[in-house]
Amino acid sequence: MSNEKEVFTPLVGGIRPREAAEHHAQKCDSVVKRALSTAGLKLGDIDLIAFSQGPGIGTCLRVGSTAARTLALRLNKPIIGVNHCIAHIEIARRECHVYDPVTLYVSGANTQVIAYEEGRYRVFGETLDMGLGNFIDAFARLAGIPFPGGPVIEERAKGGSYLPLPYNVKGMDVTLGGIFTNLKSRLKKDKLTDLCYSLQETCFAMLVEVSERAMAHCSKQELILTGGVAANNRLREMCDIMCKERGGKFFVPEKKYCVDNGGMIAATGILMFNSGIRHKIEDTKINQKFRTDDVDVIWR
Ligand code: FE2
Repeated sequence: MSNEKEVFTPLVGGIRPREAAEHHAQKCDSVVKRALSTAGLKLGDIDLIAFSQGPGIGTCLRVGSTAARTLALRLNKPIIGVNHCIAHIEIARRECHVYDPVTLYVSGANTQVIAYEEGRYRVFGETLDMGLGNFIDAFARLAGIPFPGGPVIEERAKGGSYLPLPYNVKGMDVTLGGIFTNLKSRLKKDKLTDLCYSLQETCFAMLVEVSERAMAHCSKQELILTGGVAANNRLREMCDIMCKERGGKFFVPEKKYCVDNGGMIAATGILMFNSGIRHKIEDTKINQKFRTDDVDVIWR
């Protein structure tokens, strides 16, 4: 596994799509070269090109898909478009040696509780507005904490006291916007450490509740936590307690396979290709809103 990467980090504010895409276009060539040299391979040794087809920021996905098509056509090799969310699940299953988990996938843009049922990865619950990572980063920005805000919020939360916040679980889904507005209105009057603590306790409890209900409903005993927010130790602890209380098991992949990574796209591309899936160049258009449950999962 040669899992090379370059990450776009904005100097100020959030990610602007055009700047992120320019960064990707500039770094693409050197990342491919580095991945090959780490693996000790030449371009001609490659026998399958996989790329992320979505979901994601359109301008960025387009850079990746264009590079993938160029390589596939030039090398005359097959190409596979991979669903980004499914790739998170597949690399986590592979790294944690878990066959049939419920997956809690929490990143900047995505917050989903996913499990395999009847031939597809079904989304059992998700955020109805913002992803948890973006929510945390946006709150951090308001509080004057630079990007990425997650680790600082986690640190500041230690020793905080609980301030009641809205607890927004709607059936199996969650909303974070109301909590954000509430936190914003308290920024000037309450202690940051209490706000960070309350943010974590409330939002994490909501997601652990939905994950537990998915495990009970699907009769699954294992939970995988993945995505960038999986780095948070308090979220891990809460997931672990929930799993232990119901006689289940909890897993988190190594950090480099929790955050967005090329390895997860490659590994999923191989699974798909080996199960007989073939994509033509015409099938490789990006899909910014590519749903986890849009893909027939015939490889397991
Ligand atoms: Fe991701």
